[in-house]
Amino acid sequence: MKIDVISLFPEMFRGPLDESIIQRARNQGKVEIVLTNLRDFTRDRHRTVDDRPFGGGPGMVLKPEPLFEAIESLRSQTSLVVMMTPSGEPYHQQIAESLALSQHIIMVCGHYEGIDARVDTLVDRRLSIGDYVLTNGALPAMVVIDSLVRLIPGVLGDNDSPTDESFSTGLLEYPQYTRPANFRGMEVPEVLLSGNHAEIAQWRKKMALERTRSFRPDLLEKLLNRNTSHESGTTR
Ligand SMILES: C[S@@+](CC[C@H](N)C(=O)[O-])C[C@H]1O[C@@H](n2cnc3c(N)ncnc32)[C@H](O)[C@@H]1O
Repeated sequence: MKIDVISLFPEMFRGPLDESIIQRARNQGKVEIVLTNLRDFTRDRHRTVDDRPFGGGPGMVLKPEPLFEAIESLRSQTSLVVMMTPSGEPYHQQIAESLALSQHIIMVCGHYEGIDARVDTLVDRRLSIGDYVLTNGALPAMVVIDSLVRLIPGVLGDNDSPTDESFSTGLLEYPQYTRPANFRGMEVPEVLLSGNHAEIAQWRKKMALERTRSFRPDLLEKLLNRNTSHESGTTR
């Protein structure tokens, strides 16, 4: 997979994308990440990327010309153009799973008051990482990149590990424990020490349900609705 990122702040990406699992995935050739500075697509002496909003109002808006040129220069038939924006669809694990199947993603990061709306005509998917406003699209793009790169087959050491995780099944993950079995009087649940894999699997399923019910009842409701509509043949 190749990921092109268009941003005014390519330097912001250096730390997070040069560490740990993402760096290993890059070194192993599982993903190529190329950072492009939007200012490289300006034509004036001041490398202007923004201008005042038509109709008035505070702040500056990213101009269409450099963004059109940047996207058009990177885009091919297989590209998926993804814009980071607070008005996008709320990002979640299933979107990460579908993005992880792409051959080429172009991520567009905004800044200032946002992006000239005409750029939307080049965009396949608009994503928001939550109902709050960040100063620019670099952090949201890094969140999306991190979450999808770890789902590319072979990127995580244990191939199975993403399947049991929170959200992949629609539930939160069961609680995890490691050594020591007794820490300051807090004991690891006995079933996990039993070696009985069927019982362990059953316990984990029950705990995943319980945790989801207490911490994220909304997820449970979504899952129940999904199952009911599957049973009644309703498609969404
Ligand atoms: C200050 S924000 C612009 C906010 C815009 N005026 C609005 O009210 O929707 C600048 C840029 O940061 C990025 N951004 C900020 N918050 C975001 C979020 N929650 N999800 C995705 N991108 C976000 C977007 O790329 C956006 O163009």
